[in-house]
Amino acid sequence: MTESIRHSTPVPKERPSRRVVLSRAATLTLAAAGGAATVAWDTETIVSTHHTVRIANLVAPCKVVQVSDLHRSWCVSNSFIERCIVAANRHQPDAVLLTGDFITARTSYMPSCARAIARLRAPLGCYAVLGNHDYASDEWQGAPVITGALQQVGVQVLVNTSVSLKNGLRLVGVDDYSTGEPDTGKAFSQVSARDAVLCMTHNPLEFDILRGYDVVTIAGHTHGGQIDLPIITDLVLDKRSKYLRGWFHSDHWPGRMYVSRGLGVLGIPVRINALPEIAVFHLVPA
Ligand SMILES: [Fe+2]
Repeated sequence: MTESIRHSTPVPKERPSRRVVLSRAATLTLAAAGGAATVAWDTETIVSTHHTVRIANLVAPCKVVQVSDLHRSWCVSNSFIERCIVAANRHQPDAVLLTGDFITARTSYMPSCARAIARLRAPLGCYAVLGNHDYASDEWQGAPVITGALQQVGVQVLVNTSVSLKNGLRLVGVDDYSTGEPDTGKAFSQVSARDAVLCMTHNPLEFDILRGYDVVTIAGHTHGGQIDLPIITDLVLDKRSKYLRGWFHSDHWPGRMYVSRGLGVLGIPVRINALPEIAVFHLVPA
């Protein structure tokens, strides 16, 4: 399997919001204070990345769009979530894969998030896995609420299981690495050697458990670092995720993984050098 990143396209906006204006002012301030370091403080500009991915046994090309880490909360507005959905639909996907963290902490934000998700349009369907914030929401009681809200708007939630799409693509969903009960044996139990396969999970650390599986996996969770300052972030954080963003492969097993920067934010409405992302996968027969 081979992949190539073709290009990135910012989604046009009609008019910058007050938050964007403030963000851009902060960007300039930070850039001035940081001297030569170039930083971009922007939580609003949605960037689409495009990836051509060869899949063994795939009969015909199809387009899959990944929407990850919406994190609807006090600092991620419903209007932003709606813009994310519009941006995803603009790619006219065959299928949409939602890789978890729909809310940050409270399921009270889920109804508005689900109403926006209901507007996704994809003839092969919309599919989801839950993230660690979904499981931990409402003092660890929120997962059924989030699952129910997704199912009500036609999204199929995959927990250690797989589904065969109408075009023959078998989609595998592995439960969250840190808060779920990931079981790759169960998740892949219905997958045959003749299947065209794509795997989805929330936390990219799952990649280490997927050794031995010759599949392409997509994940989110990291927000691309969310605040990714040259030198400073490394000094503040003693350990960074080894799968922060982009494509990864191992020298020891054939699978590959793409980690999206996701769309929302966690904790504070700040992203630096990690713009919100919608990943578009152009799947083609190998
Ligand atoms: Fe997240």
